[in-house]
Amino acid sequence: MSTVRQAHVRALAKINLVLRVLHRRPDGYHELRTIYQTVSLADSLEFEFQPSRLSSIHLDSDPPIPDNLVLRAAEAIMESAAIRGRVRVRLIKRIPAGAGLGGGSSDAAAVLLTLPVLAGRSLPLEELLLLAAQLGSDVPFFLLGGTALGVGRGEEVYPLPDWGRLDCLVVVPEVKISTPEAYEALSRKLTPERTPFIIRGFQSVAWAAAMGAPLGEASSAPGNDFEAVVFERFRQLERLKRRMERLRPVRVGLTGSGSGLFGLFRSRRERENAGARLGGGHWIFAGRLVSRAEYWRMWRRWLAPHIDGSRRWPPQSRYGP
Ligand code: C5P
Repeated sequence: MSTVRQAHVRALAKINLVLRVLHRRPDGYHELRTIYQTVSLADSLEFEFQPSRLSSIHLDSDPPIPDNLVLRAAEAIMESAAIRGRVRVRLIKRIPAGAGLGGGSSDAAAVLLTLPVLAGRSLPLEELLLLAAQLGSDVPFFLLGGTALGVGRGEEVYPLPDWGRLDCLVVVPEVKISTPEAYEALSRKLTPERTPFIIRGFQSVAWAAAMGAPLGEASSAPGNDFEAVVFERFRQLERLKRRMERLRPVRVGLTGSGSGLFGLFRSRRERENAGARLGGGHWIFAGRLVSRAEYWRMWRRWLAPHIDGSRRWPPQSRYGP
């Protein structure tokens, strides 16, 4: 009997510091420009892998989720990297669904990072990115983490310098928003004439971010194009954003197509004061932004018993194929 290899990892949530939508493409997706950022809110995944001629995947999810992206990611990576063995995953969800926090996408990326390491396999980064993009537009970002630029349908990601050590509040009201429906509603408002202005506005924020962001400057620029359509339909979200603005955050905005809102603060104290003033009635998470260096360090720590000594990213297995 071969031994069971175990790893306990976390799948971090993301916020979109900026999210601008340009137009609907012939493939039905929307061309966008975004700045992604990992935050310290996370799901937990416990993996067990046992090499075996027969493959099986067992997922125990709390709470259960239909059509779980973890299963699809495991099937995809096992097929592409020729991984054979028995896989068990225990998933504990903490990231709220339907909130624009990328929970399912991050879980999927966690599978793509972990299983090859446990199985002694490796895929070239290009292939891993392709698999990730097939699973969902936000999945490739979680192979990178930190602050990142997303273009195309969001699946084409490039590293950006960190936005800095900021604390954050993530507030999720009792409203679930369907991403395809939000895109549909936004699509009706998009006009080709606006595109150059959106791109220039986005460039100015991305440049400011890359130059170590005078945050004040960047924060005055337009944030998330979904706010127009989502706030029209859910007035309580707009009211919540206005209340959060009065707490003097560095930046506040909707993440993804909502319904989550984030506020960034310069210190833990400012964040705690803001959280106390915001009061109850919503799901609130108090945490901080997670830089890429930290994200990579976390991953190396979670996979430590199973990775080789190299500094390569993504982490490489110490087991032979
Ligand atoms: O790629 P993902 O599966 O996360 O996308 C979910 C849905 O969101 C798509 O089916 C599409 O309706 C919409 N979407 C879009 N444009 C994007 C990303 C997502 O229209 N850039």
